[in-house]
Amino acid sequence: MDQPGTRTHKELEEIFGEVEAPFAFVDLDAMWANGDSMLERAGDKPIRVATKSLRCRPLIEQVLDRSDRFQGLMSFTLPETLWLAERGMENLLLAYPTTNLEALSELALRSVALQGASPVLMVDCVEHLDLIESVLGAQASPVRLCLELDAALWAFGGRVKAGTLRSPIHSPEDAVALAEEIGRRDKLELVGLMAYEGQIAGLGDRIPGRPFRSRAIRSMQKKSRAEIAERRAETVAKLREIAPLEIVNGGGTGSLDSTSTEEAVTEVAAGSGFFAPGLFDHYSRFSLQPAAGFALPVVRRPEPRVVTALGGGYLASGPINPERMPIPWLPKGLEFEKDEGAGEVQTPLVGDAAASLKIGDHVYLRHAKAGELCERFESLILIEGNEIVDEVPTYRGEGQTFL
Ligand SMILES: Cc1ncc(COP(=O)(O)O)c(C=O)c1O
Repeated sequence: MDQPGTRTHKELEEIFGEVEAPFAFVDLDAMWANGDSMLERAGDKPIRVATKSLRCRPLIEQVLDRSDRFQGLMSFTLPETLWLAERGMENLLLAYPTTNLEALSELALRSVALQGASPVLMVDCVEHLDLIESVLGAQASPVRLCLELDAALWAFGGRVKAGTLRSPIHSPEDAVALAEEIGRRDKLELVGLMAYEGQIAGLGDRIPGRPFRSRAIRSMQKKSRAEIAERRAETVAKLREIAPLEIVNGGGTGSLDSTSTEEAVTEVAAGSGFFAPGLFDHYSRFSLQPAAGFALPVVRRPEPRVVTALGGGYLASGPINPERMPIPWLPKGLEFEKDEGAGEVQTPLVGDAAASLKIGDHVYLRHAKAGELCERFESLILIEGNEIVDEVPTYRGEGQTFL
């Protein structure tokens, strides 16, 4: 399948000819173009940056410096959140519940000094509240909480669910009941509501490998947009009678245009759109430029139209399907060998383009997802125009593996 972007293999080889592969890189021109396009799609709403989709502290900092509409971070584990806070990051929303008592105790200690600026934790049930309260000493400042509303669409009279399995809080009444419970606890404070409509934001409507759009997906997404807008607005209105909500967060890269139009939403979340990984090639509503990739060295030629590269088996999380594989990118026209795929140590690549590659050349691939690429590499080489301008550590390169 033809991929977006204008880079050529020759261009990348001229830039990276002397660099020892495997390595990962980010094309800053493409990344900032993607950033601008996301800001445009977010209308007048600020974008909270999803750190899981970048996993590189220097790049996260550059994003926050780029525009004052990139506001705050959406983190993915409490140890990560504390690590970022220690390094001066502010306005942190941990988007997933934690059961890490050690990290919670540390947060409680630090929240005395941080007060109103302490990171916000995600909750969706009474057990979460009990767990957080169990580590709070008498001196602790109130812990700031965000309630997660399930954003999935129930169709066919509640028999089919489109969306991710996350929070059990579905109706405005469910949300009010938990908010009231939080209100009864002195050391807990409700400051936010988050609802992530993954069935819109994380699901492309194009059929991979074909020029068609899926009618079923488009119709589900249309229904879901209307349904979540109404339910979110009603929930926010009811919660505002109980607690002063500072944050009403929704959406992701794939839903910026729709989530941002909801009046009840104060901010949208996005991260993947900066790198624009393979899974984001399948949306008809917007297009992004491939901004992150990795290079493998060609190490052997088993047949005239086949080269074998070292490494490459960097599969993405999620359901088992071919879209979770990395994508052979440049030179154009390379494909995985059907029986071998992307290998643990070696990856054969077949196609006309293979015939012209030499041992020692690089082949370039893209990850299917964004931040997961950084779990495979200690650094990202940054390019601008046709030059290497910097090399920055990933989380892994800073010795941090949070998930
Ligand atoms: C709570 C939440 N918000 C937003 C996102 C969207 O992130 P991205 O823009 O990287 O797709 C996700 C992704 O899974 C998420 O879990």
